[in-house]
Amino acid sequence: MPATQQETATQWPHRHLLGLAGCNAAEVSLILETAKEFRAVLERPIRRVPTLRGITICNLFFEPSTRTRLSFELAEKRLSADIVNFSSKGSSVSKGESLLDTARNIEAMKVDMVVVRHRSPGVPHFLGRSTRAQIINAGDGQHEHPTQALLDLFTLYEHHRDLRGLRIAIVGDIVHSRVARSNILGLRMLGAHVTVCGPPTLLPHRADALGVRVTHRLDEALEGCDVVMALRMQLERQNLSLIPSIREYHALYGIRPDHLRRNVDMLVMHPGPVNRGVELASEVVDHERSIILDQVTNGVAVRMAVLYLLATAEQRGW
Ligand code: NCD
Repeated sequence: MPATQQETATQWPHRHLLGLAGCNAAEVSLILETAKEFRAVLERPIRRVPTLRGITICNLFFEPSTRTRLSFELAEKRLSADIVNFSSKGSSVSKGESLLDTARNIEAMKVDMVVVRHRSPGVPHFLGRSTRAQIINAGDGQHEHPTQALLDLFTLYEHHRDLRGLRIAIVGDIVHSRVARSNILGLRMLGAHVTVCGPPTLLPHRADALGVRVTHRLDEALEGCDVVMALRMQLERQNLSLIPSIREYHALYGIRPDHLRRNVDMLVMHPGPVNRGVELASEVVDHERSIILDQVTNGVAVRMAVLYLLATAEQRGW
C-alpha cells in the first residue's frame, strides 16, 4: 500500500472532495490507507460502524447512475449516516427549478454532506460555494470522477505493491471521460506510466499535455502493459458520430481474448457499465484476469474512507 512508498498525510485538509486535481499524493495515500481499514470492516459479520451517526447526507443525482449511487448509499449506511436520496427524475428540477434554488432548499433541510452527480462540469464546485454542506463529486460531466479513480487506485494496490513504473493503458472514449481524467491525475501522482489509446476523434486535442503517452494503435498501447483500463463509449455526451460503427470500433479498439493470451500478466479494468462486445469482448469481462468486480467491491470501502475523512475534517472546524 502507498504508505510504504511515499508520505501519507496525517489529516484530511479539505472541506470537500471536488476532484483529484486539488489533491496531492500524500492526501490520496491517506484516503487509500483509510480505505484499507474500512475494507476490513466490510469483511466482518456485522458490517456497520457508528462513525457517522447524526450526520445527514443527501445523494443528489441529476444523471443516471446505478453503481456509484448504490455504492455511496451502502457506504453511508455502513457508517450509520442518515440518508436522503434525490434523483432529478420526478423532482422539481423537471418542473424548472434552478440549481441554486435546489441547493438552497437542501440547505434549509440541514444536510451536512451532499454527494452530487451532474452532467455539467463544475456543479460540485458551485454547490461548495453556495451552500454550507460538504460536497463530494460523484461525477461532473466530462470533468472529474474522483472516487472512481480512488477505487481504481485502491484495486491496483491489491495487485501491485508499488504503482511507480506500472504501465497502464486507458483505451476508448478518453475525450468524454471524467474517469480517464481523474485516473490520469491519480496514476501520475503515484508514479504510474499512462498511455491513452483510441481513435483520434475520441482523444483530447493535445492529450500529451496531460503527461501521458498517446497512440491510436491498440497493439502499441498493450505492448508490455501491466493493466488495461477500457472505457465505455459515452454516446450520451457525443452529439455527432465520432466512430464509423460500433463493429469497427470493436475490431480496432475492443479488448479480446487474444490480447490476454499475448500479454499473459495483463489485468483488465473497467469502471462500468460495460457494453459487452464493444469495448471488451464478453469472454474478457468474465476472464480470471478481469478485476472489474473487485473495483465494485472496493468502491464501498473507498467511499466510506472519503466520507469519514471529510467528517473528521469538519469536526476539527474551519
Ligand atoms: C462512469 C461514469 O459514470 O462516469 N461509471 C461509473 O461511475 N461507474 C463511467 C461511465 O459511465 O462509462
